Amino acid sequence: MKQVGVALLGLGTVGSGVARLLTEQAERLKRRCGIEFRIKHVVVREPDKPRPVTLPPETKIVTDIRAVAEDPEVEIAVELWGGIEPARQAVLTLLRHGKHIVTANKALLAEHGPELFDTAQEVERSIAFEASVAGGIPIVGALAHGLSANRVQFVRGVLNGTSNYILTAMSDSQHTYAEALADAQARGYAEADPTLDVDGTDAAQKLAILVQLAFGQRISGHQVFRQGITGIQQADLRYAAELGYNIKLLAVARLHEDGLEARVTPCLVRKRTPLAEVRGVYNAIQIQGDAVGDMFFYGLGAGQMPTASAVVADMIDTALGRAQITFRMLRMWASNDKGLRLLAPEETRTRFYFRFNVQDRPGVLAQIARVLGEHAVSIASVIQHEPPPDSQAGDTVPLVLMTHRARTADALSSLEEIDRLPIVSPPSVLLRVED
Ligand SMILES: NC(=O)c1ccc[n+]([C@@H]2O[C@H](COP(=O)([O-])OP(=O)(O)OC[C@H]3O[C@@H](n4cnc5c(N)ncnc54)[C@H](OP(=O)(O)O)[C@@H]3O)[C@@H](O)[C@H]2O)c1
Repeated sequence: MKQVGVALLGLGTVGSGVARLLTEQAERLKRRCGIEFRIKHVVVREPDKPRPVTLPPETKIVTDIRAVAEDPEVEIAVELWGGIEPARQAVLTLLRHGKHIVTANKALLAEHGPELFDTAQEVERSIAFEASVAGGIPIVGALAHGLSANRVQFVRGVLNGTSNYILTAMSDSQHTYAEALADAQARGYAEADPTLDVDGTDAAQKLAILVQLAFGQRISGHQVFRQGITGIQQADLRYAAELGYNIKLLAVARLHEDGLEARVTPCLVRKRTPLAEVRGVYNAIQIQGDAVGDMFFYGLGAGQMPTASAVVADMIDTALGRAQITFRMLRMWASNDKGLRLLAPEETRTRFYFRFNVQDRPGVLAQIARVLGEHAVSIASVIQHEPPPDSQAGDTVPLVLMTHRARTADALSSLEEIDRLPIVSPPSVLLRVED
């Protein structure tokens, strides 16, 4: 039986899940892969804190990674600290001490991928990162192995469970954004400070990793255009539903003739299509490849055991030597950059949803249609309901427009000009439609 010494950096949510899988399923792992994992060290901040998992008697709980770096029996270090520093420094040190790395840390990879992967290549060690993109969904493996014969045309998905839970709760229960967020926090689906989830940062970091895998293009998370969900209102969910759409926070990377589009934005997605029906904290990713056509991946993108499932799969791959082959083949963030131009958000084309608050009087639609026409934005459909019976003279009413495909720059300049019209009470709403 092959014995493999491992160290866990972190024994929080994911770290405890990994320790549970390695200890409780040790016999199954031995039978299935012929490997006995030995947790030699766990590196945490507070070694005396009670832990929800029973570690093997040989495991040492320490606070300094030197113990791991200097232990020749540790082959794999599993980084589950999160954040950039000191995780970056720890990974670099451990690589230089000959350890293979498994990590779930999307923030670290999205911002420092080139440095970490170059170092790993230099010292002939591997970094495996399945859990960093969509928790339990094996999307990294799918792109690296199963779909490697394809030229990928687009990758798009619901990559943040917190935002998706909030949007689902808002559509189902008429909650405001603030109420739906409080509900998500009460259920443990949103952090006390949910900013990185709801402003699109988390999804952008995951998309940066997917772009590297799918298109061989080096981008960092902050190069991905982002718009979060904090401005989504009940009214927009209702109008979208009336038009036959759900609103989803989508991460989209799409190859165009003149470059690559990469964005995280709330989008109207046609109901009864797979992405539109992803509910609650679930994640999903759709990929279109030239040979395989459309593929759809669905599952839990976070949480203790789904994420641990991906981490332990990477540990098995590393112990068997498969991760090293994949790592060499992928040359992630290396000089294999395809040189694709990253399109500015204004250059991309899509359909749009506009919601204006307008005065209820003759000629309003004509004035708005004129501005849109002057910017080459063509209207596909319009909704304006009768004002409620108790409305007063001078009250505004919502006017909703769906457009045909238009350049984002033209949609934005129309919006700016329309918001200056005396008949409109800004701010107006502009959302993309993802067909
Ligand atoms: N949670 C999820 O569902 C999920 C899903 C996918 C990916 N991830 C990623 O997985 C990673 C871990 O997330 P998590 O939710 O498990 O985090 P967590 O619950 O906050 O746990 C972090 C662990 O790391 C330890 N730690 C942090 N900084 C340290 C330092 N400087 N020195 C020593 N120990 C340190 C903490 O020690 P103490 O316990 O002593 O404080 C704790 O045990 C992150 O990169 C996250 O993005 C998480």
